[in-house]
Amino acid sequence: CGIVGYVGKSKAAPIILDGLKRLEYRGYDSAGVAVLGQDGFKLAKQTGRVEGLIQKAAPSTLPGSCGIGHTRWATHGGVTNENAHPHLSSDGKIALIHNGVIENYAAIKKFLLSKGYTFASETDTEVLTNLIAYHYEKEGDPADGGSRLLESVRKTLFHVEGTYGICVLCSDCPRELVAARKGSPLILGVGQDELVVASDVAALVSRTQNVVYLKDGELVGIRDNAFEISTINDTDVSPVIDKVTWQVQDAELGDYAHFMEKEIFEQPQALENAMRGRFAEDGSTANFGGLNLSANELRATSRLMFCACGTAMFAGLVTEHLVERFARIPVECDHASEFRYRNTPLFSNTLFFVISQSGETIDTLAAMREAQRKGFKVLAINNVVGSTIAREADGGIYQHAGPEIGVASTKAFTSQLMIGAMLALYLGRIRDMSFRDGVEIVKALKAAPDLVREALQQADHIKQIAQRYAQVSDMLFLGRLELFPIAAEGALKLKEISYIHAEAYPAAEMKHGPIALINADCPSVFLVPNNELFNKVVSSMQEIKARGGPIIAITTDDADLPEGLADDVITIPACHEAVLPIVATIPLQLFSYYVAVERGCDVDKPRNLAKSVTVE
Ligand code: G6P
Repeated sequence: CGIVGYVGKSKAAPIILDGLKRLEYRGYDSAGVAVLGQDGFKLAKQTGRVEGLIQKAAPSTLPGSCGIGHTRWATHGGVTNENAHPHLSSDGKIALIHNGVIENYAAIKKFLLSKGYTFASETDTEVLTNLIAYHYEKEGDPADGGSRLLESVRKTLFHVEGTYGICVLCSDCPRELVAARKGSPLILGVGQDELVVASDVAALVSRTQNVVYLKDGELVGIRDNAFEISTINDTDVSPVIDKVTWQVQDAELGDYAHFMEKEIFEQPQALENAMRGRFAEDGSTANFGGLNLSANELRATSRLMFCACGTAMFAGLVTEHLVERFARIPVECDHASEFRYRNTPLFSNTLFFVISQSGETIDTLAAMREAQRKGFKVLAINNVVGSTIAREADGGIYQHAGPEIGVASTKAFTSQLMIGAMLALYLGRIRDMSFRDGVEIVKALKAAPDLVREALQQADHIKQIAQRYAQVSDMLFLGRLELFPIAAEGALKLKEISYIHAEAYPAAEMKHGPIALINADCPSVFLVPNNELFNKVVSSMQEIKARGGPIIAITTDDADLPEGLADDVITIPACHEAVLPIVATIPLQLFSYYVAVERGCDVDKPRNLAKSVTVE
């Protein structure tokens, strides 16, 4: 979900609504805003998009220069106007927005009901609103002249189990806002005569580039233009102000129809950014200072572990292939959500990585903390500087892919593949990979941006193919070795944005079950490059063809595909195995994009999904 809070000299509503639009990729089933003016709270909330909210509640009807706003991704309670945030306490004093899940909400609710508080929604959030109101009523003004609102929030959070990023207003305190976090990101923007709180820098970068990344267990109390940070246990924290490196234009659409399209076409640049400054002078390896580990420590590694979710997990699976081939180190890759409860035996010299574009995915964060609890240093491959995972990791590699706004990941994925390939090269070169092989891989990686540019030139051809297949309801995606995870990513992309059911299988495994699905209405996409398994994949294609299944082949320009075997052929440039997964991803992204456009789907905000899932 997305959070924005504002206290300043300008009118709050337009700034909050603009911030919410920029945060919509974090959740978009409902949106709401509350401002505190001279006549108390003015509130507007409803299901659907921020644009709908703006039309309903024109900013002019929401006077006041202090306010909060929220975009929701439903957890507890359906998508209804009542369940949308902000929520008001039943005495009308407290307004609050919340990301996360309150686990002991039932017990708190029981207590509050016994005290006469009432509830208007089915959300877990509402217990926070009423519990703050309860403490506010009970405690009175603090003797030390501190903020009564801040102390009521602190007392409330003391009793709360679960995760939260919250912003709180009180109708008695017209220039005050309190925010707090635990397990859900929150950033304070320190602007000219104004303070902005948001769950993501995207919402505040148009106001200021000076930010304080709040840590778990911290609260910020804002009064007028001043702020103080403390912990839930009431220890003062001295703030560190960081500078955001990207500009507001980086997260804008420009001439593109969708962020996904923009981000697909930004990939050559994103790959260049991932490589910048990483290759050693001798041209045979890569360097990663951010790992905070010496070559000797890395040489002692006997196993690598990758944990991630969604698309990032597929980047881990490709990296598994490359590390095993180039460095001959066994690699395990697991869904972060599974790893955290599996209690996988880990050996002391396991090198542990998490991969996360946003750095906020709660399952990935929890997997990382679980590994850290067991004494492992965890390294993060991550795109968002200052994110929770980046800050809690013991080292890592930043992707520098720039903001990714489309919910379906594209440039962040290929950038993760590039980092995985460089990591495999580096680990290989400190073991037994030859200088010559290293040079060859470096050359291949450096060529990747141009090869991706070449693959992108197929866009129109792929669009035509996509238009012809746009109405199917099932598809198979098939590939082998390092291209199996790419097939899986192709299937995921199609599912995510076009709602077509798609499954991925290792091409030869397809005959052990999925082949039963094959008929004229179930097309298969084959990844069939000219490599040592070319003839094997061609045989799998023959098996599909023999059963009347349409075939789209993605092949390399040096391959000699039997005439008439595939119904449609998309050709990508031949390249090194370290780069092939990157280049082969491009037509799959374009295919799913054009299918979704053809079906009239909301490409950047697919139903039920959110860019970053900060709840378990
Ligand atoms: C969500 C998104 C996916 C993404 C996954 C992991 O499920 O919809 O597109 O791959 O989270 O996100 P992360 O930010 O951790 O890479």
